[in-house]
Amino acid sequence: MKTTRLLQDTQDDLTIAAQLIRDGELVAFPTETVYGLGADARRENSVRNIFKAKGRPADNPLIVHIAGLDMLNQIASEVPEIAFRLAEAFWPGPLTMVLPKQDCIPSVTSGGLDTVGIRMPSHPAARKLIQLSGCPIAAPSANRSGLPSPTTAKHVMDDMNGRIAAVLDGGQCEVGVESTVICFDTPETIHILRPGLISEEDLRPYARQVYVDQAVFTQIAPEAKAASPGMKYKHYSPKAKILPVDAPDFEAFRDYVLHHQQKNLYCLLFDSDSEIDGIPCLHYGDSGAEQAHDLFFRFRELDELGAELVYVRMPRQTGADLSVYNRLMRAAGFEVIRL
Ligand code: TXA
Ligand code: MG
Repeated sequence: MKTTRLLQDTQDDLTIAAQLIRDGELVAFPTETVYGLGADARRENSVRNIFKAKGRPADNPLIVHIAGLDMLNQIASEVPEIAFRLAEAFWPGPLTMVLPKQDCIPSVTSGGLDTVGIRMPSHPAARKLIQLSGCPIAAPSANRSGLPSPTTAKHVMDDMNGRIAAVLDGGQCEVGVESTVICFDTPETIHILRPGLISEEDLRPYARQVYVDQAVFTQIAPEAKAASPGMKYKHYSPKAKILPVDAPDFEAFRDYVLHHQQKNLYCLLFDSDSEIDGIPCLHYGDSGAEQAHDLFFRFRELDELGAELVYVRMPRQTGADLSVYNRLMRAAGFEVIRL
C-alpha cells in the first residue's frame, strides 16, 4: 500500500506532481473530460504500473497527452494534413487522434499496436502538469477498469487510494464523458471509434467522409477484431444493473416502471420528467451536454445509495448526445427495454 497524496491545483502542488511523474510515479489529474491516470508515456515500467493500478487488460492502448504541437511530431511518425487541420480546430480539447507511433512510445503504451492515440487536453492543470513534467503523459481514465470514469478527485480516491502516488484535485470535470477518438482510414476519411462531445457533425467540414464505427451501436462479438480495443470490453458500469428503457414519452416509461418494480429499484430521469410515486429517482439533465456532464456522477451516486436496478430514460443518438447513448448502452451491456 502506498500513501496517495491529495494535491491541489496550485503552483507548488503542480511542481510536486510533475516531479512525481519525472520520478516514474503515477499521478491522477483532471482533464476537461474525465480524470486521467498519468505516467511518462515513454517509460515502460511506469506505464505497466498504470495497467496494474487499474486492472486494465494489456491489449487496451492508452491515450498520450501533449501540451503543444511540438510534442506531436515526437510521438507520431506520420501526421497527415487533415490531422493538423483538426488540431487547429479542436485542440486543446476533447479530440483524440490515432496516428502511427514513433519508437519512443513503447508497445506497452500502445497496447501492442503500431499506432498511438494522441490528445491535447484543455484543462489548465493538465496542460501545466504536462509542461512541467516535460514529457508526453499516457493517461487512461483514472477509474478501476470497468467502473465509470471519475469526474471528481473524490471518485479517483475511491478507486485508487493506496495504489498511486497522488491525485491532483482540479474540481469537477466540465465535459463528463471521455474524448472523441478518431482514426483516418484514408487521408480524407474520419472513422469515429468512440463518440464524445465533438460530434460527427462537428467533424464533417474537415473531411470528405466521416462515419461512426458499428461497435458504438452494437455489441461486437468477443472474438471479433475491434478497430479500437476498448470497444470489446464491458465498461462504465456501476455495481447496480443499468437498464435503459426506450419509451416514446415519460408516461410510457413511468407505466413500465410501475409494473416492473423490485427491491432497491431506482430511476434515472431527464430533468424535465416529473417524479414517480414511491420510486426514488435521480435526474441527469435534458440536453446532451448536461447528460454527459452528469451521467458518470449519477452512476457513482446510485452505487452509494445501494441501488440494485436502475431504469434509465434513453438519451438521443444525434450529435454529442451519441456519446451519452454509447456510454449508457455499454454500461448496460447493450441490453435495452424497447416499448
Ligand atoms: O477523455 C479521454 O480520452 C480520457 C482523458 C483522461 O483524456 N482518457 C480516456 O482514456 O478515456 P481510456 O484509456 O479510458 O480510453 C482510451 C480509448 C480506449 O477505448 C482505447 O481502446 C482507445 O481509446 N485507443 C487508444 N489508443 C488507440 C489506438 N492506438 N487505436 C485504437 N484505439 C485506441
Ligand atoms: Mg476508460
